[in-house]
Amino acid sequence: MSGELSPIDKAKFVAAKRATRYVESGMRVGLGTGSTAAWLVQCLGELVREEGLRIKGVPTSSRTAALARDVGIDVISLDEAKWLDVTIDGADEYDGNLNLIKGGGGALLQEKIVATASDQMVVIADISKQVETLGAFPLPVEVIPFGWQTTKALIEEMLIGMDVLGRSTSLRMNGESPYVTDEGNHIIDLHLNRIGNARQLSLVLNQIPGVVENGLFIDICDAVVIGYGDGRVEVRDIVKGEIDTERFDFLEEDNLFGDIAD
Ligand code: A5P
Repeated sequence: MSGELSPIDKAKFVAAKRATRYVESGMRVGLGTGSTAAWLVQCLGELVREEGLRIKGVPTSSRTAALARDVGIDVISLDEAKWLDVTIDGADEYDGNLNLIKGGGGALLQEKIVATASDQMVVIADISKQVETLGAFPLPVEVIPFGWQTTKALIEEMLIGMDVLGRSTSLRMNGESPYVTDEGNHIIDLHLNRIGNARQLSLVLNQIPGVVENGLFIDICDAVVIGYGDGRVEVRDIVKGEIDTERFDFLEEDNLFGDIAD
């Protein structure tokens, strides 16, 4: 990712940079997973190395743990932290109530546990993640490998009674093999197109034996930081009831991934 940043990377970068203001020295911080969260980890690493920010980071995946260590963040487990001041993570979709679909990157289980164990969850995203109604993005559901085909059939049967537009499901693959999460589970993606009642769907999914967790984050997110390719950032904080906008300038050194080969 060397050279000039693409508009989408600029959007992710400015959202991440703005979100670092939620982090203060002494905090325990949940570190999300995905390409937008990777920008956040880079930004926090820079603050740690160059401005003496002292934080403990709790990563939500092995990928994020490796990146956080690389950039100089002190990494601890959730059990060591016990409770977090803030978690900052990306999302696949967010709606007007800041309910989310997450798990496109396969880390929904740790992400949900970490976000729920935080005083505050902040989502960083570009505007393409904003939707009126959740469901265009396939909903990831983490299932244990034992009997996954039976679990998939039970999910499909349950969907008949749900307010959704599509009902097909697919086992997520990694090449020729089923995708395996950090917990050794598989992911079934639900192609629903539109989810009429996300709260109900989330509750019902988690009652199916074999389902570990689903990617609907209901009433967990407190604020969304939306980045745009021209440097604008909008913060919508539903707890404080505030909307704030500003613009960041880009400097050449802002490409924090510039030293990483494409
Ligand atoms: C990881 O499992 C996901 O929940 C990610 O947070 C989500 O997919 C957003 O990823 P990007 O920032 O790469 O779009």
